[in-house]
Amino acid sequence: MLSAPNVAVVGVTGAVGEEFLAILAERNFPIGDLKLLASKRSAGKKIEYQGKIFTVEELTEDSFDGVDLALFSAGSSASKKYAPVASEVGATVVDNSSAFRMTDGIPLVVPEANADTIKGIELGKGGIIANPNCSTIIMLVPVTPLHRLAHVKRMVVSTYQSASGAGRAAMMELDSQTRQVLDGKPPECKLFPQQYAFNLFSHNSDIGEEGYNTEELKMVYETHKIWGDDSIKITATCVRVPVMRAHSESINLEFEDPIDEKIASETLKAAPGITVIDDRDNNRFPTPLDASGKDDVLVGRIRNDISREGDGACGLDIFVCGDQLRKGAALNAVQIAELLL
Ligand code: A2P
Repeated sequence: MLSAPNVAVVGVTGAVGEEFLAILAERNFPIGDLKLLASKRSAGKKIEYQGKIFTVEELTEDSFDGVDLALFSAGSSASKKYAPVASEVGATVVDNSSAFRMTDGIPLVVPEANADTIKGIELGKGGIIANPNCSTIIMLVPVTPLHRLAHVKRMVVSTYQSASGAGRAAMMELDSQTRQVLDGKPPECKLFPQQYAFNLFSHNSDIGEEGYNTEELKMVYETHKIWGDDSIKITATCVRVPVMRAHSESINLEFEDPIDEKIASETLKAAPGITVIDDRDNNRFPTPLDASGKDDVLVGRIRNDISREGDGACGLDIFVCGDQLRKGAALNAVQIAELLL
């Protein structure tokens, strides 16, 4: 068992990479040597970690000698190319990209839902573990304890996804367009084809023949894999909204077994990784700003689905907000690494 693994952060100059470092430091994750990797563009850049200055190196096939844990967030093509190389030389990879999520034999892990699937993987002995899509993680932290209690039969989710999910460039686009519009100038669309500031649009991932975009399908198939049950019926509509860094989701649930809003609320309050904000009297419920910078997924609007009354089915609606860069990405990956320690 390694007490202080040598750690590489791949994609360290990106929005998630930066958060990896913040979370490792906050949680006092034990680190032997630290290696910071990004593309050639960033090689030589200086980054501070816990009072020490580190130089960013270019990611190459030789980057992983002596590395025990590699946290990847540099996009799926970099993961496809370099994660197997890292694993081959003994680095255990936690990969935030979509490259290996649906690969048989590669665990796809939300610690609150399926921590048991990483049994047998040891730091410094290679292996790849996939971090789920941010919207899937933020959905499954609150829905898994309800599923354990009353078995979800069908789930309908609509997302309100922030800029951070599309990386640093998207955050900059939202920032600059907002300034341009307020200054009375035409907003410049560099990353997204449509105006982002003061607007919203269907998620910017590819649309398939059946009309679903890939983000929506990730929420469906990743949930099946994490819960180990393909029979659960899930449909999703994913939308990008002009919010900087936390995703929100409206989730309608239909259950096999009896459950109501009171039991659901008690269950959620007792579950790990969740803060319930559900103040009907004052109309105070989770917002993405509340969730920004927080570890917990915030849950509110917990209510019986009135459309199911009288038909013998149990339905609930909830509204959740979670920091996409933290629990939706870097925090979940670091929690996986902590399980390996
Ligand atoms: P760089 O800053 O040098 O381009 P984001 O998701 O915020 O856009 O960040 C992506 C991260 O992944 C950045 O750190 C970026 O580095 C890094 N990255 C992207 N492509 C590659 C690649 N081919 N090799 C190494 N790092 C990459």
